[in-house]
Amino acid sequence: MSETRQAATASPSGPLTGRVRVPGDKSISHRSLMLASLAVGRSRVSGLLTAEDVMATGAAMRQLGATITTGPEGDVVIDGVGLGALAEPEGVLDFGNAGTGSRLTMGIVGGHPIAATFVGDASLSRRPMGRVLDPLREMGVTVIAREGDRLPLSIKGPRTLAPIVYRLPVASAQVKSAILFAGLNAPGETTVIEPVATRDHTERMLTAFGAEIRREANADGEGMRITVAGRHPLRPCDVIVPADPSSAAFAIVAGLIVPGSELVVEDVMLNPSRTGLITTLQEMGADLTIENIRNAGGEEIGDIRVKESRLVGVTVPGSRAPSMIDEYPVLAVAAAFAEGATMMEGLDELRVKESDRLAAVAAGLEANGVVHEAGRDWLRVEGRTGSIGGGTVTTHLDHRIAMSFLVLGLAADRAVTVDDHKTIQTSFPNFMALMRDAGAEIALETA
Ligand code: S3P
Repeated sequence: MSETRQAATASPSGPLTGRVRVPGDKSISHRSLMLASLAVGRSRVSGLLTAEDVMATGAAMRQLGATITTGPEGDVVIDGVGLGALAEPEGVLDFGNAGTGSRLTMGIVGGHPIAATFVGDASLSRRPMGRVLDPLREMGVTVIAREGDRLPLSIKGPRTLAPIVYRLPVASAQVKSAILFAGLNAPGETTVIEPVATRDHTERMLTAFGAEIRREANADGEGMRITVAGRHPLRPCDVIVPADPSSAAFAIVAGLIVPGSELVVEDVMLNPSRTGLITTLQEMGADLTIENIRNAGGEEIGDIRVKESRLVGVTVPGSRAPSMIDEYPVLAVAAAFAEGATMMEGLDELRVKESDRLAAVAAGLEANGVVHEAGRDWLRVEGRTGSIGGGTVTTHLDHRIAMSFLVLGLAADRAVTVDDHKTIQTSFPNFMALMRDAGAEIALETA
């Protein structure tokens, strides 16, 4: 992504209508390229998210020896090199803005006796990597990193990795996945204990690729204990990527708050580890109906019909955070249009996303006259207290901040500008076209 910023402005819009299909799930897209690269033989992925974050993972997998091409029907075809057989990359692995891509690949590289250097953009270079590097160090991986375990950093996997039992200090699917990916090439069993269940795409996909993996509830009934048996070859697999619920969130919230709207958001993944926003919006009184529920590629999917609704403020418990962690910025936007206050708790992890999202959301609300209060790990938004909009929002290289505040502008009293829309390319390249086709008025600053 080039470093020049380009602003975009969303204006109060007429009803949003029609049927939209947002791109493929980012979590599943990254993992499909990675596991297909570790399998022996040819895998096919349909519906892959072709956004910058996932392209960075594809480029890294190529550097590690996989062959990735596009098939006649637009499917992505991956010829994997096989577990234990990855090549040492000749150049640096540049992950751009991609936290998931970089952290999961650290697990893969750490599980092989090769060295690799990881670099990223200014946002990724600020994010903490120690959460992944610490367990990898326990497994025998050598790390040379900047102060505070930030990018750029280099890692080298040992000849033989030590399998570990690791209790996650933070609820993070990225950390869980990095350890399990390293464990794939360790002799013996590697176990991750998660005190709170996080998204389970890694476990589901490892099963589909033939890994020996088990998931058990923790003895206290909270969270999960996941164990993978190492040095067990992976077989290729065909993956169907459902629409990303974290991208669908922008269309759903826009449909709820833009007057007169009625939209259908198609094929949305309904994995319960990702549907916290839907639950919360329904508690707020959202008119959301899930139609045509079916199974695609091992995930339940459905079409979500959304109608403009009178929302009321609610308290969102911290225990729900893992299932909607990327959706808080757009929930804060919905909350600005609700009757009464919405209280969001347990938001510590928002501080270490593509930006400090708690601070970025609070600043965006402030710039647009939305009454709110923020603490170290909480945010309270007062809905409908007066005229809102008219502000310019700093996005800090964070795609979800950009999209959330453009959605705010569609339903506000005055237009809302975001300072940089190019960052949206990291996860949702056709966001502008899709929203405009539905009736959104969004103007881009010409370079
Ligand atoms: C992701 C996990 C989440 C999420 C990120 C994608 C994944 O991060 O915020 O966008 O694909 O595993 P954490 O695991 O760090 O919470």
